[in-house]
Amino acid sequence: MARVFVTRELPGTALERLASAHEVRVRSGEGPPSRGELLEAVAETDALLCLLTERVDAELLDAAPELSAVANLAVGTDNIDLAECERRGIAVANTPDILVEATADLAFGLLLAAARGLVDAAADVRAGRWRTWEPAGWLGRSVGGATIGIVGTGKIGTAVARRAEGFGMEVLSTSRSGGTPLKELLERADFVSLHCPLTEETRGLIGAPELERMKPTAILINTARGEIVETEALRVALADGLIAGAALDVTDPEPLGADHPLLDAPNLLVVPHIGSATHQAREAMADLAVDNLLAALAGRAVPNRVSAGDTV
Ligand code: GLV
Repeated sequence: MARVFVTRELPGTALERLASAHEVRVRSGEGPPSRGELLEAVAETDALLCLLTERVDAELLDAAPELSAVANLAVGTDNIDLAECERRGIAVANTPDILVEATADLAFGLLLAAARGLVDAAADVRAGRWRTWEPAGWLGRSVGGATIGIVGTGKIGTAVARRAEGFGMEVLSTSRSGGTPLKELLERADFVSLHCPLTEETRGLIGAPELERMKPTAILINTARGEIVETEALRVALADGLIAGAALDVTDPEPLGADHPLLDAPNLLVVPHIGSATHQAREAMADLAVDNLLAALAGRAVPNRVSAGDTV
């Protein structure tokens, strides 16, 4: 029996399956463990099931001399130093595929909500501001016939492109391996939706010059990672009307405190990193993370093993 530390309670029954085969300790309580708590917990741990809120770096690995496997309950692995894990022979796995449709749904939901000002319009109803049918009230932007620029053509970007085609949009896309050049995509798109992983190449990919290139009527959607967009540049772009709006599921910093200056920007919709937050997707993610750990601990091939250099 291996000793497994799980950094948070998970939905569904996956942890029962893990506990029937191994000695499992689940961190209870609200929010992520503190760094100190995490470093202490991994000291006598053979395998770790963690979330994107936990940084798995050299310091943590030094504190966990017996660690042989890390299962991340996320598709993104930017919280993990993959090269360092690889150097130490520690298997790392993620949870791809099963969250693709849920995340693409959220990206498209944000796009529609931002295009039509749904959140503000709903707030107006509750505040008693709906007095009549207004010919020029609550005007948004048309989605059908508009152009979407998709940055990152992995599985989630491709699933968003499918939805966009269904809505009669023109689809432009760009990725490391080709497509429409980013500059041209930013100039032509009415909606720009980010779906690339966070890497050293994509950190700050959308800063002031990129936001200036976008149409003043365009809307930016980010369901990838907050650090791909420069927060202060986005705040200024919204405040100065360089772009018409932004809808974010991810932010930098994350979580975004209620008093963060970005929240004072106009035409901004922020939701709390809920791309994969459906019952189905989260239970499937927990199952997959457990499958990955069970395979690693049994010395079998790990189904969703991630290597340094992979971009997921
Ligand atoms: C969530 O952001 C994930 O990477 O799965």
